Amino acid sequence: MPKHYLMCRPDFFTVEYAINPWMDPEAGADRDLAVRQWEGLKAAYEALGHTVSLIDPIEGLPDMVFAANGALVAGGRVYGARFAFPERAAEGPAYLNWFAERGFPTHEAVHVNEGEGDFLAMDDVILAGTGFRTSREAHGEAQEFLGRPVVSLTLVDPRYYHLDTALFPLDGRNIAYYPGAFSEGSLRVLRRMFPDAVIAGADDAEVLGLNAVSDGEHVVINAEAHDLQLDLKRRGYEVIPVDLAELRKAGGGPKCCTLEIRGEN
Ligand code: ARG
Repeated sequence: MPKHYLMCRPDFFTVEYAINPWMDPEAGADRDLAVRQWEGLKAAYEALGHTVSLIDPIEGLPDMVFAANGALVAGGRVYGARFAFPERAAEGPAYLNWFAERGFPTHEAVHVNEGEGDFLAMDDVILAGTGFRTSREAHGEAQEFLGRPVVSLTLVDPRYYHLDTALFPLDGRNIAYYPGAFSEGSLRVLRRMFPDAVIAGADDAEVLGLNAVSDGEHVVINAEAHDLQLDLKRRGYEVIPVDLAELRKAGGGPKCCTLEIRGEN
């Protein structure tokens, strides 16, 4: 089933501030290499038959490449992002306008939330992270606007500051996740909802292996996540490894660069 993704070329990518433990402004990052790696990700989606739309990058917004944070789209409705840090605040309206200009019904969020960084839509529910960026109030706001049940999960490890750094949907019904990122109560929720989930270890989490994108058959995943790739293959998924090491210096991986545009279903 072909997907529609929104991406943003990292033409202005840098690591010049630190808003998560992965970012080191002293060390910086190589923009040209980041662009080449990002092109590889885009090509991987296109080779799988998915459609990639692009939003223009804006100078001075080095994290705008992380399109997942720009909004949450479900049933063709767009719940806008409201960023936790001022460094990224201008990205919210930029992404929301992209959708509004194309005729999507949009909602400008009242509560702090970072789009698909913390909201992952499944068939029947939306899984939502809180603890570092997205507020619990935003979970309720998204549920009200989208008309879909939202399940709140609490993140406890600052390295896994967005839900999409610790968990990804394999399809509409099952997930893979790293248990160390979640509170005890949230882990019990995950075990109850997804008894058959793929459980990842610390080594795979530390290379942002959980920041992967699955279309239900193929999983686009950071190349360094070796054990997780083996587990996925054993489960019958085709694994597409990508190298996004330069973008990881900002705390992002394949999923962070990818906002899924979900239509009427
Ligand atoms: N530097 C960005 C930040 O800290 C990285 C965002 C990664 N995006 C994601 N969906 N996890 O906000």
